[in-house]
Amino acid sequence: MRKKIVAGNWKMNTTVAEGVALAKDLVAALGQVPSDVNLVVAPPFVHLTSVGEVIADSKIALSAQNCANKAKGAYTGEVAAAMIAGVGCEYVILGHSERRQYYGETSATLVEKMALAFENGLKPIYCVGEMLAEREAGNHFAVVRAQIEEVLFGLTAEQMANVVIAYEPVWAIGIGVTATSEQAQEIHAFIRKVLAEKFGALAEEITILYGGSCKPSNAKELFACPDIDGGLIGGAALKAADFIAIAQSY
Ligand code: 13P
Repeated sequence: MRKKIVAGNWKMNTTVAEGVALAKDLVAALGQVPSDVNLVVAPPFVHLTSVGEVIADSKIALSAQNCANKAKGAYTGEVAAAMIAGVGCEYVILGHSERRQYYGETSATLVEKMALAFENGLKPIYCVGEMLAEREAGNHFAVVRAQIEEVLFGLTAEQMANVVIAYEPVWAIGIGVTATSEQAQEIHAFIRKVLAEKFGALAEEITILYGGSCKPSNAKELFACPDIDGGLIGGAALKAADFIAIAQSY
């Protein structure tokens, strides 16, 4: 049985006070979430400690949204994997399309980040996904294959077993229009097939999340697909009722 995960990527939203209030609302509503659905929240770095305190005794796990590609030292403005682990994070999101697009993150950088995440006991939530022009040109399978091969194929099986993948088509992020469940299932199955080429039967155990305008009205259909094991939620994760409703969609 693959682990079911609904993760909230808060991106650069909420003040600490707002984030703490949101986390408290989530904890208060946990009784409504099926016991086999694991929740993760990824607030901004400066919230990790205070949000971590709110969720400490709950089943909600803490994630960072990024980490540095260096262990420590003179890298002004960066946050190291060790620091993230030190405030109680279990996960770290790596390779989000916004980081690839706006901050020039490459596969080479992500290989370094991934290694540091593992050294510090963090589980990466590794994001892949194509841009609109790439899908329109029919290149989406090649793009996603390259993102997987370049960053994940160098991992040991033991490391790979601790990776969660999030497929997020860039054209479906933040605009309200999701990929159809057929489009999402097709590429999730493809991702599993590519993983199997390198990791064999382990591919069946890897949790693959869908992300991109996932909300209460479409989550049920997406999560019903055989290769979709949950969601990485942006906008809808900022409202406790919506996030919980998505988690209830299994
Ligand atoms: P939205 O749910 O706002 O489309 O964002 C998805 C996402 O990028 C999560 O990482």
